[in-house]
Amino acid sequence: MTHPDSIAPHGGTLINRIATPDQRAEFLDKADFLPRVQLDERAVSDLELIAIGGFSPLTGFMEQSDYDRVVNEMHLVNGLPWSIPITLSVTEEVAAPLKEGSLLRLDDPLGRFVGVLQLTQKYHYDKRHEALMVYRTNEEKHPGVAVVYKQGTVNLAGPVWLLQREPNKRFPTYQIDPAESRALFRDKGWKTIVGFQTRNPIHRAHEYIIKCALEIVDGLFLHPLVGATKEDDIPADVRMNCYEIMLEHYFPKERVILAINPAAMRYAGPREAIFHALLRKNYGCTHFIVGRDHAGVGDYYGTYDAQHIFDEFDPDELGITPLKFEHAFYCLRTKQMATTKTSPSTREERVHLSGTKVREMLRRGELPPPEFSRPEVAAELARAMRIQEITYEI
Ligand code: ADX
Repeated sequence: MTHPDSIAPHGGTLINRIATPDQRAEFLDKADFLPRVQLDERAVSDLELIAIGGFSPLTGFMEQSDYDRVVNEMHLVNGLPWSIPITLSVTEEVAAPLKEGSLLRLDDPLGRFVGVLQLTQKYHYDKRHEALMVYRTNEEKHPGVAVVYKQGTVNLAGPVWLLQREPNKRFPTYQIDPAESRALFRDKGWKTIVGFQTRNPIHRAHEYIIKCALEIVDGLFLHPLVGATKEDDIPADVRMNCYEIMLEHYFPKERVILAINPAAMRYAGPREAIFHALLRKNYGCTHFIVGRDHAGVGDYYGTYDAQHIFDEFDPDELGITPLKFEHAFYCLRTKQMATTKTSPSTREERVHLSGTKVREMLRRGELPPPEFSRPEVAAELARAMRIQEITYEI
């Protein structure tokens, strides 16, 4: 139950598509007789997010009318803003025998029965058009576009049920669903909550913009993404260790809730910033941080495109307020984190460390400097680097 004082979910109702015990028993009875569709990691996390209400008002994978409007106009047919298509794409071969109107058994990549789809529609879609509209490029080397090009050519649409809500195996203590985060915010008496999306180990620019936001709201919902990311992103467990370290040493813990965001990363920059904001609205946030090149990759998007896109919407239809931050750096003159809005520094006095430089330092066994990373976080990254020999992008 959401408190009347809390922010409304997108569309007004928090969706719950977790099968009831009776539905679950019925689905399990039918399991061996239903046509099977195997989901990839992204589709599993989409199913999960639909079921727990993170994607409210969606109740399933998009039909063509919603898909077309989302791709072309960033709205659902019902008029609500929505910027990223949520689709289940399969090959022609898989789609051919499936009958509209039937129930499908959804299996995870390990073949475990995780959900059910009531197939209302199958349709073809134009991958190149989706890439150009959603990702603003049709280059296959864009990691989000690459996923679209690799997936099947037919979208299966219809409402879904998650068979059951299982504790997250990697981060059970940080699995907080939208109904729970809303209850936590209410219990803490927070009226204004800022959501923070991240897929990188926390560095000082993150810390700075989060703390600026914390100065003006009641609480922080620190919500790192732990769904599928590109291969050279830092693994989620290492990132979670870094957030824990930061909470231990550098934040007033009682003003922060750390929780995992199960979504897969799309790297769609501006469009994904809107999507990320709506997701946090469903978790009960009133504000959402959008910094430099939010959800961007390479040089596909302008530094502030992900902020400008919010101007294309009426603030009331979005229902969550973006808090926009300029590129933050360490200022050698004032000896603190700053942006050009707050620092008199010249370019030479600004410490901007690129991900590539930090990666090279870690490989050489050097720690990123304290102007970039808190020393405890730098040590954790170095430790993970030694153990896993992972390729970093920060
Ligand atoms: S993202 O793909 O999830 O956006 P990342 O974890 O790097 O990547 O960023 C999390 C948030 O911090 C985003 O809103 C991003 O714009 C912001 N951000 C990252 N680095 C900076 C920086 N140096 N200055 C300002 N904002 C930043």
